[in-house]
Amino acid sequence: MKVLVVGSGGREHAVIRKLKENKEIDTIICAPGNGGISADAVCADVKATDIEGMVSLAKKESVDFCVVTPDDPLALGMVDAMEKEGIPCFGPEGKAAVIEASKVFSKNLMKKYGIPTAAYEVFDEPEKALKYILDQNSFPAVIKADGLALGKGVLIAQDAKEAEEAVKELMIDKAFGASGSRVVVEEFMTGPEVSVLAFTDGNVICPMVSSMDHKRANDNDEGLNTGGMGTIAPSPFYTKEVAEKCMNEIFVPTMKAMNAEGRTFRGCLYFGLMITPQGPKVVEYNCRFGDPETQVVLPLLKTDLFTIMKACHDGTLADINIEWYDEACACVIEASGGYPQSYKKGYEIHGLDENGQREGVIVYHAGTKKENGAYLTNGGRVLGITAKGKDLNEALDKAYAAVKEIGFENMHCRSDIGAKVRNL
Ligand code: AMP
Ligand code: GLY
Repeated sequence: MKVLVVGSGGREHAVIRKLKENKEIDTIICAPGNGGISADAVCADVKATDIEGMVSLAKKESVDFCVVTPDDPLALGMVDAMEKEGIPCFGPEGKAAVIEASKVFSKNLMKKYGIPTAAYEVFDEPEKALKYILDQNSFPAVIKADGLALGKGVLIAQDAKEAEEAVKELMIDKAFGASGSRVVVEEFMTGPEVSVLAFTDGNVICPMVSSMDHKRANDNDEGLNTGGMGTIAPSPFYTKEVAEKCMNEIFVPTMKAMNAEGRTFRGCLYFGLMITPQGPKVVEYNCRFGDPETQVVLPLLKTDLFTIMKACHDGTLADINIEWYDEACACVIEASGGYPQSYKKGYEIHGLDENGQREGVIVYHAGTKKENGAYLTNGGRVLGITAKGKDLNEALDKAYAAVKEIGFENMHCRSDIGAKVRNL
């Protein structure tokens, strides 16, 4: 069996390492992949957003199954294009991927079907957006670009002046391009954030173990928002009681709402949740595995990943009993100094073996390339140093011990991943 995985980050590396456990798969192709992924898969030089090029590659290589992982190709309809050519995929069709690609769509969906989320209004004129915020006079105010913005299109204004700047940045200066032509202004929520990824085939929805991302660049949740600087799983805030409430009030209703809209979602649906004093509410949906959530969730999966992915495609997920290891997992991201803004690339990474790994941990490669046998930095987020343990403390200790041994010039990582949940 030949499987094609689309993407090039740590998340894709985690998917590939898990797929490798299936003995029926003899070849995994990753496009475009990266230096570290090349130790586990055959990398093909096709951009993740090149729909035509990817379909050609899949046909040329006669792949049996395709996993589309990143948001852009999903929103662009890569799954639709593959399926049209008879190539089965894991991932939602374009019309279902809109649940992430448009915040206006997802907020309206939640309102229509009574799914708990922050109160909001939608604006396509900057003057009206600002007037609404000033009239409400309730700060902090949350202002979000409608479209995809690499997780950075959310601005939180502490006062009227910041609100004015935020509206200007998104809607007039178009700091995030066309995605800021429409904005959602919403109520500020408080409480711990939890990420829950869920497998679904449109008939049933199976939440995975919960996790917790650390989005800000620096310790104590300071600095700019990033794609994510580290994760832990499971989240101690996601109690059995909260999980049950989420299943009944959020997960199942969302799956049913998408069916009712004629946009059945098959694949991995990501719920970004906030456990507010009024109960769990949706902060955002993603139409895909989270990055770096996947890096801590998949190592805890006991059941074969490929079997689950195929069942999501075939509509037979109800037949599968998905099991998890009763352990914990932690991932610390090593990033290029300067990320998420400008940074230099091309530094040699020390502390890895010839396969880009190190004993005792799993090293997921994100922005790396391999040259003359050496691993070099090649992106903002470079490595995800990941460890399992019997509990979170053990997992975090193991991950941070390896972080001391693996590095490169100008390396930046947070020293407080999981600090808030240690010993909880
Ligand atoms: P999003 O891209 O929608 O997940 O937003 C990015 C981050 O902004 C979230 O992870 C939250 O930390 C924060 N955020 C988004 N919406 C709200 C809200 N309504 N209230 C408080 N914080 C929010
Ligand atoms: N870590 C958040 C995301 O994947 O969007």
